[in-house]
Amino acid sequence: MDKQIAVLAGDGIGPEVMNSALRVLKAIEKKYAHNFIIKEALIGGAAYDEFENHLPNETLEICKQSDAILFGSVGGPINEQQNKKWQNCEVNALLGIRKEFGFNANFRPAKVYPELSSICPLKEEVIADGVDLLIIRELVGGIYFGKHCYHEENGVRAASDTATYTESQIESVVRIAFDAASKRSKKLTSVDKANVLHTSKLWREVVERVSKDFSDVNYEHMLVDNCAMQIITNPSNFDVIVTENMFGDILSDASAVLPGSLGLTPSASFNKEGFAMYEPSGGSAPDIAGKGIANPIAQILSTAMMLQFSFGLINEATEISTAVEESIKDGIRTSDIQDKNKEASSTEEFTNSVIDKIK
Ligand code: IPM
Ligand code: MN
Repeated sequence: MDKQIAVLAGDGIGPEVMNSALRVLKAIEKKYAHNFIIKEALIGGAAYDEFENHLPNETLEICKQSDAILFGSVGGPINEQQNKKWQNCEVNALLGIRKEFGFNANFRPAKVYPELSSICPLKEEVIADGVDLLIIRELVGGIYFGKHCYHEENGVRAASDTATYTESQIESVVRIAFDAASKRSKKLTSVDKANVLHTSKLWREVVERVSKDFSDVNYEHMLVDNCAMQIITNPSNFDVIVTENMFGDILSDASAVLPGSLGLTPSASFNKEGFAMYEPSGGSAPDIAGKGIANPIAQILSTAMMLQFSFGLINEATEISTAVEESIKDGIRTSDIQDKNKEASSTEEFTNSVIDKIK
């Protein structure tokens, strides 16, 4: 198979974990006789250095010519945020690229690996039934993309952000979620705040309507505050969760801590044409960048998701995730997921283990 991939490594640990992912991709390419053309482009602070722009047109062009986008991470150190290079870097790069391509459905899986259950922050008895959930977040609507403004009310400064959803925006992501649920354990939780918000009341109506087309899926409505609580107290209760942009932002961070490290969770963002971008859920981790110790799993698994969802290469994707799981089982682990009394592996050692298993 011939495919072109836009590779946007970005900042912090982005380039080093991307290097791991591309080495794994090369191993797959060789074994299965595919031809993956890699087109690297700048984004985030790295792009600012060259173009004074966190999301240059040159980069968007390369993405448009490609079959998928593999994204690393963007953003700089907390204590350098006043530097123009880092000001609004994440917002400009991420919201910009989401809007440009209309990536409206964001898949954020969170899974507790049985062999890593000791690093899950929850008690053993709470996760005894296993944790394997998928948050599907609407990504280009709601309060994020509504009108933002400052104004004055009776001589006092005020600010407002408007949340709007059209029926078709809701329907698009809700359909994707029902479809995803019907391919997993057929359980869907739609999360809203319908006791207060009109956008949520509309959301519920659309879910009710779309559910008629998916009679095999058991769905429920849940209020977002209750959901936040249950992700912590009863995570095994969930399979697929679908929700609007801001609730999804918050709930996906809550669920991302369940696996025990942000370095473990991949993600994918799709538009209505099925074009997609794949990226690790964690950030650029500037504090550990360049040390060769970053966990490459999220980037490697994001690459596996790309093979599966954009290219339909299910065996290749499974081969990668199996190689990752076996490496973890062998005890080859970077410091964020290693037992305290055992020696941690480097980014490169972990990557080598994955590649050895693929060969
Ligand atoms: C995320 C991030 C972004 C978001 C920020 C950086 C704009 O937190 O991808 O979840 O809020 O969507
Ligand atoms: Mn977030």
